Order: sequence, then structure tokens, then C-alpha cells
Amino acid sequence: MPETRKVFIKTYGCQMNVYDSERMAESLVSQGYAETEDPGDADMIVLNTCHIREKAAEKVYSELGRIRQLKSARQSEGKETIVAVAGCVAQAEGAEVFARAPVVDLVVGPQAYHRLPALAATARSERRQVIDTEFPDEDKFAGLPERKGPRPAAAFLTVQEGCDKFCTFCVVPYTRGMEISRPVAQVMEEAHRLVGQGVREITLLGQNVNAYHGDGPDGRPWSLSKLLAELAGIERLERLRYTTSHPLDMDDALIEAHRGLPELMPYLHLPFQAGSDRILAAMNRKHTASDYLRIVERVREARPDIALSTDVIVGFPGETDEEFQQTLDLVREVGFAQAFSFKYSARPGTPAANIDGQVPEDVKADRLARLQELLQSQQSRFNAGCIGKIVPVLFEKLGRRAGQLIGRSPYLQAVHAEAQPGLLGRILPVEISGAGVNSLAGIVR
Ligand code: 5AD
Ligand code: SF4
Repeated sequence: MPETRKVFIKTYGCQMNVYDSERMAESLVSQGYAETEDPGDADMIVLNTCHIREKAAEKVYSELGRIRQLKSARQSEGKETIVAVAGCVAQAEGAEVFARAPVVDLVVGPQAYHRLPALAATARSERRQVIDTEFPDEDKFAGLPERKGPRPAAAFLTVQEGCDKFCTFCVVPYTRGMEISRPVAQVMEEAHRLVGQGVREITLLGQNVNAYHGDGPDGRPWSLSKLLAELAGIERLERLRYTTSHPLDMDDALIEAHRGLPELMPYLHLPFQAGSDRILAAMNRKHTASDYLRIVERVREARPDIALSTDVIVGFPGETDEEFQQTLDLVREVGFAQAFSFKYSARPGTPAANIDGQVPEDVKADRLARLQELLQSQQSRFNAGCIGKIVPVLFEKLGRRAGQLIGRSPYLQAVHAEAQPGLLGRILPVEISGAGVNSLAGIVR
């Protein structure tokens, strides 16, 4: 028996990276690795990285600094450590990663990670740095092992990757590549498998998930709404969600799915990025503020209680204070249950990085603070509005206190309640008794 190697994986960034890390772990486990939570005990360390903003990429390099010390400490004990950089920093920077952080043995992009076990074996046996940032012809997903359970009640399932929208601030079209959709049959098979392993809620993932157009069993491309309807037919799969969407691809059928499909949870993450039409055009968003409002109106007509979430950027190059005010106006007009907001971060290779009129850091910080104050007050108000209501909660994990479980409401709020661990994976009515900015407390009824 070969000795079991241990792998430690650290994930940065978005939910798709969380999904990718799970799949990387599974592929290494199928090759005899065991996962560890302790990087000091790991024969292989994988950083699954994010390149969306400068800070995200910098975090990776400071972590690599710490890993360098750890690797040399292990080396002095005669232990080998393979250090791998995966994800979007790997894709964007390629061999530059080795130059900036010589501790790295392996660089693997988001479209090549099904080759990770083989690449690690090469790095180890040939004692050299190995890189794979190809966008291979073969299907990455077909090259990954079947998913094994048991697992928590809520799971991610990537159905679409990449983006063709080319917003001028965004690296995604370069790091994740052009938009591709997984075939319907492949998605259905994975969903059935997850449900068999205890999953009751699936969130479909894609950088532009509502542009999904995977090959259907009828030989035609299927839309996301059609895929959702098919998934809703899986027995014991009780909840469906999808993220992230672009306003342009919010088609009639998808909006109607929010009315007609009970499994589809009343929650929509729909980034608008900015409230000024001039800035939206400079961002190449291909929609205006009023287009966005019109979509919101239609979605709310279909599902009046829907919780809306969004992404917003402040300080895009050339943004004036009046234009920023239009962002605040749009937020006030919509009323969000949740939101993610960011200072614009110039990303090398993207068109906006070269636009004149980059906004000073202190102006961006001030705008972000003002925006976040407004968004937080909306979020608190939305949560407080749940007090006294009975909402169905899917219990997903143990709480920090004994006897407590944490679950999610239909509106994606975290809900804490006293409940026995045997109730994990069940959906129970919970009367909401308290609300904070980020979570609710309740009593199982
Ligand atoms: N600077 C700041 N925020 C960005 N995002 C994407 N690129 C940038 C950037 N260069 C934000 C967008 C996107 C979210 C995932 O990250 O709001 O929707
Ligand atoms: Fe980036 Fe989203 Fe725009 Fe695509 S739609 S370029 S992923 S911000």
C-alpha cells in the first residue's frame, strides 16, 4: 500500500471556486489523497485563487510567503510539499506566478484542473515546475471522477462557465474564457447523484448562468428556465437557486419560472453595477438603469415576495459625484435584501484600466461607505420584516452552540434555531424571533 498523501486546499473568491475546490479534492481523493485542515501536515497545498480585484490576487501572494516558511520547515524534517496555485490567478498570470513566488511547483488554470493529480505526479517525480493553463478541447467535467457523498443538504452545481459579455472592468472573460454550458444530461446526472447523497437544495452556478444554453436530450439547446423545470422534477430535490445573472439574459420564461415553479426559491442575484447610464455604457453593460428597473418590476410582478440581491461598483473611471448619486438613487428605488459592493479595482488587460480619470482612492472609499450604509439599512429592514413570520428553513449545519442548527430561509438568510442534529437536511417551519444585519434567530414550530 502506498502511503496516503495529504492535501490542504484553500479557496478564495466566488462560489464557483468553492465548487471547483470540491471537485479538485474529490479527484485527488480518488487518487489516494486524504484531505487535511492543517497546511503544516499537508504533502500538497492547493490555493484556489481569485483575480477579480487587486486585493484578492495580493492575498494569494502573502499566503504564498507564509507557505514558503512552512515548506522549508517541512523540508528540514525531510518532508516534501507540492505547492499548487489553481484558479484565476493561475490563469491570468501563468508562469509569472513562478517568478513572483518560486515556492510554487504547479500552476493550473480553471479549465485544466481535471489534470491536477497527473500534474502533481509530474511535479513530484520530475522535480520541476509544471504549468497547465490551457483551455483544452476535452470536457473537463467528463475527466473528473463521479461525485461521492454523503454531503450537506445544500450544494453548488456548475452548469455554465465563462462569459462573453466583456464588461470593461472585468477579468472573467480572460480568466474563465468564453461562455460554455454543460449538456443537460450531464447536469441531470450530477443533480441526481447529489440528491442521492442527501442534497435537498441545489444552486446552479455560472458566471452568466442565465445565459445557459446547454445541449438538450432533444438535440436542441435548452434555456435555464427549461433546465430548472427539469431539475424540479427530481424527487427529494426541494429547492433550486441560480447565480450569477446578467440583466440582458433575464428572459420572459425565466421570469415566469419565478411565478410557476415552487421549487425555485424567491431570491434573485442580479448585478446592476452602476446607476448612471453614462457609466453603464462605459462599462459595456448593454443595459440602462431603467432597463434594470423594468426587469425588477416584472420579476416582482411574477413573485411579489422575491428577495433581490445585487453587485455594485463605485468609482469606475470618470464617475462623478452626481453619477454616484444615481447609483444611490437606483438602490433606493429597488430596495435590496442583500448586496455586494466594491471599489473599482483596475485590472491589468481590461479596457477600463486604461481609461483616463481613475477615481482617487479616498473618493472611492467615501462613496463605498455611503453606499454600504444605505445597503445595510435595507438589509436590516428586510430581515426585521421577517420577525413574527413562520418561514420554512432547510437546516444545513451545526451551530456554534450545542443544540443549535443553522439553516437558510427561502430568501437565503441564515437562520439559527435550537434543534437536534437529526434535523439536518430537513425543512421545518421556524418562527422568526430576532433579526440582525446578517442573520435571523427563530424557534422551530
Ligand atoms: N473592480 C471592482 N469590482 C469588480 N467586479 C468585477 N470586476 C471588478 C473590478 N475590476 C465586481 C462586479 C462583479 C462582482 C463579481 O465583482 O460587481 O459583479
Ligand atoms: Fe464580468 Fe459578469 Fe460582466 Fe461577464 S457579465 S464580464 S462575468 S461582470
